[in-house]
Amino acid sequence: MMEAALKVPAEGSADVLRGRDFLALVDYTPEELMYLVRLGIELKKKQKSGETYHPLKGKTLGMIFEKASTRTRVSFEVGITQLGGSALFLSKNDIQLGRGETIADTAKVLSRYVDGIMIRTFAHRNVIELARYATVPVINGLTDLSHPCQALADYMTVLEYKGKLAGLKVAYIGDGNNMVHSLMMGAAKFGMHMAVSSPDGYEPDAGVVQLTKEHAAQTGGSYTFCRDPKEAIAGADVVYTDVWASMGFEQEQKDREKAFSKYQVNADLVRYAKPDYLFMHCLPAHRGEEVSADVIDGANSIVFDQAENRLHAQKAIMAALMG
Ligand code: CP
Ligand code: NVA
Repeated sequence: MMEAALKVPAEGSADVLRGRDFLALVDYTPEELMYLVRLGIELKKKQKSGETYHPLKGKTLGMIFEKASTRTRVSFEVGITQLGGSALFLSKNDIQLGRGETIADTAKVLSRYVDGIMIRTFAHRNVIELARYATVPVINGLTDLSHPCQALADYMTVLEYKGKLAGLKVAYIGDGNNMVHSLMMGAAKFGMHMAVSSPDGYEPDAGVVQLTKEHAAQTGGSYTFCRDPKEAIAGADVVYTDVWASMGFEQEQKDREKAFSKYQVNADLVRYAKPDYLFMHCLPAHRGEEVSADVIDGANSIVFDQAENRLHAQKAIMAALMG
C-alpha cells in the first residue's frame, strides 16, 4: 500500500473510533490503525513538551489481570493518568471472577462503574465474551492468541525509525505465539512483508496465517513462512523475536529449549539482515535463549523505545475509544 493512502484521516474521524473495542488488529482498517499510530506520535510529542492534555478527565479504566505484567500494567495506568483519568488494578484472584462469577456478569457490573476495561487473560474467547456483555470499550491487553497493543506500539516505533512502514521486511524468528500473530496482522494491514521462521510444531496458527494473507493481498504486503531462520531474516529491515515459552507454557520450558536451539537471534544470524536492521522484542526477554545479549543490548536494538511507546500508543487507543 502507498504510504499516501495512510494519511491521518480527516478531522472528526476520531469520532468513528469512539466506543469501539480494541480486541484484534484485524477489526481495524489500515487507515484507522495508522490514525492511532500517528495519534500516538502526537501524544508523545505533547507529553515530551510538557503540555497538559486531559481528554479523559474523570474517566476510569478497569484493568483485569489474569497473568503477570510490568509494561502493560504500568503503561496503561500511567497513560490514563496522563490523560486526566485514573485506573483500577483488578487482579483476577482479588475479584469474584476468580471465584466463579461469570464473565458476562463481571462485564455488566464493571460497565456501571468504569469507562473502559482492559483485560489480560488466557483464552481469547474470554475477551470476546467480556466485550459482548460490556457496554464500555474493551481493550485486549494480551491473550494466548494475540497482543494487539504491543504490535501497534511496535509499528509506531518502526515508523519513527524508518519513516515508513509499507514495503519494509519484518522477520520474526521463534515461537508462533500471540506476539507474532499480532505482528503478522499489523504487517499485512500496513503493506509490509512478513517472514516467519519457527521450528516444527511451533508455527503460527493456520487461521491467523490465512487471514494475514487475505489482508496482505489488499495492501501489497506479503506473508511467507521459512523453516530456515537464515532465509526468513535475509534482507530484513526489522528482526523480531519473543520468549520460547510464553506465560501459561512454563511447564514446556525444557522441551522448548531443545526445539528452539537453532532459532536464537544472535550475531551469527543477524549478519543476514540489512546492516541497518532494527532488533525488536516485546520484553520480557531471556538473554541466552531466544536472543543473545550482544544483539539485544547492541546498537541495532530498539527494545526500550518499543517499551516506551506502549505508553504513547495506548494513550492514543484510550483517547480515541474512551474520549
Ligand atoms: N510486553 C509486555 O506486554 O510486557 P508485560 O508482560 O510486562 O506487560
Ligand atoms: N509471548 C509472551 C509475551 C509477553 C508480553 C507471553 O505471552 O508470555
